[in-house]
Amino acid sequence: MTAATGPAPLGDAETLRQRAADALATARERTATLTTCVDEPELSAQHSPLMSPLVWDLAHIGNQEELWLLRAVGGRDALRPDIDKVYDAFEHPRAERPSLPLLPPDEARAYVADVRNRVLDVLQTAPLGGDRLVDAAFAFGMVAQHEQQHDETMLITHQLRRGPAALSAPPPPRAPAGSTALRSEVLVAGGPFAMGTSTEPWALDNERPAHHRDVPAFFIDTVPVSNGAYERFIDDGGYDDARWWAPEGWAYIREHGLAAPLFWRRDGGGTWLRRRFGVTEPVPADEPVLHVSWYEADAYARWAGRRLPTEEEWEKAARHDPATGRSRRYPWGDADPAPEHANLGQRHLQPAPVGSYPEGASPLGVRQLMGDVWEWTSSDFLPYPGFAAFPYREYSEVFFGPGHKVLRGGSFAVDAVACRGTFRNWDLPVRRQIFSGFRTARDAGPEAA
Ligand code: AVJ
Ligand code: FE
Repeated sequence: MTAATGPAPLGDAETLRQRAADALATARERTATLTTCVDEPELSAQHSPLMSPLVWDLAHIGNQEELWLLRAVGGRDALRPDIDKVYDAFEHPRAERPSLPLLPPDEARAYVADVRNRVLDVLQTAPLGGDRLVDAAFAFGMVAQHEQQHDETMLITHQLRRGPAALSAPPPPRAPAGSTALRSEVLVAGGPFAMGTSTEPWALDNERPAHHRDVPAFFIDTVPVSNGAYERFIDDGGYDDARWWAPEGWAYIREHGLAAPLFWRRDGGGTWLRRRFGVTEPVPADEPVLHVSWYEADAYARWAGRRLPTEEEWEKAARHDPATGRSRRYPWGDADPAPEHANLGQRHLQPAPVGSYPEGASPLGVRQLMGDVWEWTSSDFLPYPGFAAFPYREYSEVFFGPGHKVLRGGSFAVDAVACRGTFRNWDLPVRRQIFSGFRTARDAGPEAA
């Protein structure tokens, strides 16, 4: 058993500068697609009170980049100090943002392009060491991740938006033959493993530091829970039976009349349909269930005689290699994600059927831990022992506590730069507009330890 995590992809300064420039360019390409596929009134409209107008996300991306890369790293004067407050997420809740004096779309585009040009200039000459903010180009990686996180947020806005489709993508590759013969669960033996990271250069503050956790033996599903399985929960009256629900979850679904995942409805004949990016289609039975809240995931698991995995169980299943005792960067090893490993980066606008991506499996054969759907865990979002907020408290620290539940693994909508074996996402347990699904687990008992 060793505390070491996988070798971090550290490179010389030129490699790091290229990596940072590539990550920023990839993010900007996606941002451009998401903010040019609808017209200007649609960019400025609020499609749901849960979301910002797309044009707010766009200029907020540029403003964060200006704050961290031009001002903090580059030591440059503020380009637009007048707009800082408008694009500070903590000054204005999402519901309020449409009434702010937002930059119109053309000005927002010009602003983010201006910031980016100057950032590429800073990147040429900035020292990439000697200070935690710039070590291994951290701030550049952080800003690329931030933009990709908002690209996922903007994709959620597109999913909530009414009207004809504005985006499309090819479906993910079909699951290989034989996937249906996968074992339904695997045993993860009890014992310690190294959780979190102290070496991954672009890991964010809440993933740090690496530390040992002793995790009792448990079983975990080899694949996420499918739509077909979830339909059996619905058909069995799962939404009408308080036994399965946490009390607050039960109160919430009753108050709001919820009886199926978000975006689902039955057609006249009782078949489930879903709306996906402006298109209504039958719910595919073999895809991971999507757009469920933590309460729904928790209720399903109880109905199935199981439970959600804890966050540490999820990470052990994803990273621990029983042969070496080492924690990997990803389930498949230490290599950066490639298209054959996982459904990431909005290449496809839906999850792949359960059992897909055999090349992305963990050492024990657990599939689709990365990509497809964010997976709810039973755990509250809490700091690791030795946590230190960096570089700003508002990224993680202000969200720690029992109000937020942890999601792991990343969805089809998140880019590889913002998704790792150690990456932690979180949200309120009622949220389901996010690309959320889950898998289940159960205790193994002492004989399996
Ligand atoms: C980590 C996805 C919960 O979107 O609220 C974006 C990411 N933080 N800008 C969010 C984030 C600041 C964050 N999540
Ligand atoms: Fe943000």
